[in-house]
Amino acid sequence: MIKKICIIGSGVMGHGIALVCAQSGFMVTMEDVDEEFLHNGMNKIKAFLKGSLERKKITQIDVDNTLSRLKTSTDLSKAAADADVVIEAIVEDIKIKQTTFEQLDQICPQSTIFASNTSYQSITEIAAVTKRQDRFLGMHWFNPPQIMRGIEVIRTEKTSQDALNTIVDLCYKLGKEPAICIDSPSFIANRLLQVWRNQAFNIYDEGVTSFQNIDIALTYIYGIGRTTSRKILHQLNIDPHRKSDQLDEQEENVL
Ligand SMILES: NC(=O)c1ccc[n+]([C@@H]2O[C@H](COP(=O)([O-])OP(=O)(O)OC[C@H]3O[C@@H](n4cnc5c(N)ncnc54)[C@H](O)[C@@H]3O)[C@@H](O)[C@H]2O)c1
Repeated sequence: MIKKICIIGSGVMGHGIALVCAQSGFMVTMEDVDEEFLHNGMNKIKAFLKGSLERKKITQIDVDNTLSRLKTSTDLSKAAADADVVIEAIVEDIKIKQTTFEQLDQICPQSTIFASNTSYQSITEIAAVTKRQDRFLGMHWFNPPQIMRGIEVIRTEKTSQDALNTIVDLCYKLGKEPAICIDSPSFIANRLLQVWRNQAFNIYDEGVTSFQNIDIALTYIYGIGRTTSRKILHQLNIDPHRKSDQLDEQEENVL
């Protein structure tokens, strides 16, 4: 049974994942290379809880209980030593991820399940540096973790059914919906996103319409959500919310 979760990395994703786990009743240690990063991560967690309290989504007791379940550390061996699950959310660099998991493999009990939050690296290649490839998978959260309901759970050829079931069950306990897939480039959601992104570019490039109108179609016709629509358009280096005096000639022609 999972009781303790160690989150490696306290950045954009790490602090949000730590918050969700602590709010769901798990004992959490968030680890990072520097106290300053941990301090920033904890401040963001506290600010989110404060906002939820002000909006009466949670009570002061919920805030206190969540914070009482959260610890921070810059010492990997202490942070991960008795973790049932380790979720890695550090920089998107396969070498750094592999080095970290090599260390974790020495530190953690054989039973500990390892999960990487990588967006684009091969789970199989990261897992290969450990001696627990049967207990290694991808757990790909989306930003912000406290809000986004879906998590991709990525299994390799060596991931055991038992480890997969445990992580799927964990997703439900965290109030999330797991989307399971085999290890493959970009998994599910980012591949789907590429289709929207390519077509958004084509539609603009052919002069069909402005990015503002593409944003409206994505958000209000397909209901994919403003955040995702902005993500697609920002990846094309276009801000759909520019003021009209910033529109280029092509956009003015079609508006
Ligand atoms: N930002 C997103 O929208 C998003 C969404 C899904 C998945 N991801 C993935 O999540 C991972 C983290 O992304 P992020 O946006 O949170 O990055 P980030 O840069 O905000 O945070 C990374 C954190 O990891 C820490 N770190 C670096 N090396 C470390 C080490 N060896 N040990 C411990 N901590 C270390 C850094 O100090 C930093 O605080 C990446 O693999 C990324 O691809 C990001």
